[in-house]
Amino acid sequence: MNKITVIGAGNVGATCANVIAHKDLAREVVLLDIKEGVAEGKALDIWQTSSINNFNTRVRGYTNDYLKTKGSGIIVITSGLPRKPGMSRDDLIRTNAAIVKEVVERSIKYSPDAIIIVVSNPLDVMTYVAYKTANKDSRKVFGMAGILDTGRYKAFIAEALDISPKDVHAMLMGSHGDSMVPLRRYTSVAGIPVTELLNKEEIDKIIERTRKGGGELVNLMGTSAWYAPGAAVAQMVEAIVDDEKRIFPVCCYLNGEYGQKNIYLGVPVKLGKNGIEEIVKLQLNQREMKLVEESANSVKEVIQVLDGMNLFEG
Ligand code: NAI
Ligand code: 2OP
Repeated sequence: MNKITVIGAGNVGATCANVIAHKDLAREVVLLDIKEGVAEGKALDIWQTSSINNFNTRVRGYTNDYLKTKGSGIIVITSGLPRKPGMSRDDLIRTNAAIVKEVVERSIKYSPDAIIIVVSNPLDVMTYVAYKTANKDSRKVFGMAGILDTGRYKAFIAEALDISPKDVHAMLMGSHGDSMVPLRRYTSVAGIPVTELLNKEEIDKIIERTRKGGGELVNLMGTSAWYAPGAAVAQMVEAIVDDEKRIFPVCCYLNGEYGQKNIYLGVPVKLGKNGIEEIVKLQLNQREMKLVEESANSVKEVIQVLDGMNLFEG
């Protein structure tokens, strides 16, 4: 790919640009921020690792100069406030909705065909804001959360079993919040159902820790995570750039799938050069469907807050 833009050169944005460059996924990565000099400095620092880490991707940083993002194939949006201890992702809505709307408006002006990947929280609703702002095919506007959340889930399972995380496969649905739904029936280790390797209480504990996984890190660090989020976005970028058609949990617009309409929610999708190429329909049982529905309801509550902001009127 010729150019990938990452908006927000904070913890997640800079890490994401760094991993994209390491993987040589584009000729150029543009890092953009509103804080004078920050994107320029971080981009220069990453670029100076190119001969050490053996990559060609040219990383450039700019302060608020959207012209430099012109012609991007993918735009990653990480601009916005992160959580502080005691805050939920939803507390961020007022500030971050305005930021996401502004950066989408300004960036699609120069890259109307770009695929947009949203990272800013509250993720499911910020992705909805990006979609409403961009007013384009929903298969090209989606959010990253599920790869991060399953990454945490898989790491906990690998640790519990003392096995390689590479052998853990899992699916997770719902919102990027405490109501997310890790699916034990769709979790396996080298093809072996996890239910044959861990008992119910052990799996319950891991699921609970996964749901609170973001908060665990906020409490440890005083701000939210960035290594795993940045790497997770880069994995989505890789699937698109290399047209891998990988199946990932992605925050995706639903129009009737899983009984949900006009909402962004985490579901399994096929990701390739066209963005979301298919929504995979799992045969969920009643209990799983109920959990997904409850998770969707929590997103709808935040959408109501968004509606109250009248961001898209006038
Ligand atoms: P950060 O504070 O380190 O970086 C955010 C950056 O956005 C700052 O450098 C800030 O100057 C910039 N920014 C603010 N307004 C801007 C604007 N109008 N235009 C351009 N840049 C602007 O925060 P961090 O840790 O990088 O997190 C970023 C966002 O990602 C937060 O909302 C956080 O909650 C979310 N997040 C989401 C995850 C997910 O799984 N979806 C995982 C981790 C974080
Ligand atoms: C995370 O899950 C806070 O969404 C951020 O780490």
